[in-house]
Amino acid sequence: MATNGTITPSPDENETLFSPKLISPNVTSALPDGYSMRPLQRNDYSNTFLDVLRVLTQVGEVTREEFELRFEQMKASSGGYHILVILDGKGKIVGTGALIVERKFIHHLGLVGHIEDIAVAKDQQGKKLGLRIIQALDYVAENVGCYKTILDCSEANEGFYVKCGFKRAGLEMAHYY
Ligand code: ACO
Repeated sequence: MATNGTITPSPDENETLFSPKLISPNVTSALPDGYSMRPLQRNDYSNTFLDVLRVLTQVGEVTREEFELRFEQMKASSGGYHILVILDGKGKIVGTGALIVERKFIHHLGLVGHIEDIAVAKDQQGKKLGLRIIQALDYVAENVGCYKTILDCSEANEGFYVKCGFKRAGLEMAHYY
């Protein structure tokens, strides 16, 4: 995978959640110097992936075994889960986001992208990493054939998504179990 000025070897596709070919070269080249972007990997349990998610919500104590089982379940869904990560110059995960592809019967077997779990480490916020994550997920969505991408967010984050090109549409409702 190309990073700003450096080439890192492509990881074995068995070890990545989705194909690295779906990572936008243009978005990657817009990252700060030394930063890179790639699909989530099976061995990211030992990186700071779960810590980054903790800026979003509670994660709980997840063992390596549980992490790898969930990774396998997502990978087995054939093209449903696209979780990507941004790494800083030292290879530490500092941002993440997910695109889940929903298969429908309507819209002639249409595909809808759902953006979920966007998180940037506290000390890395404000460097446009959130924007790059959304742009990269949009690229995945377009390239796998989604006709639209939707997301839910708090009022406090609406301005961020507007800057990323989203507009308010509809109203979220929920049942919690
Ligand atoms: N409200 C309004 N504007 C914002 C906000 C906000 N909450 N956050 C960022 N922006 C603006 C920035 O000022 C910037 O504007 P500019 O282009 O005029 O300079 C633009 O949006 C892009 O900002 P980034 O630097 O890319 O934002 P950052 O990397 O800090 O990431 C994020 C934003 C993801 C919301 C981050 O603050 C974060 O991780 N927050 C905690 C977790 C969270 O709330 N995640 C979103 C949950 S919703 C979901 O997952 C679908």
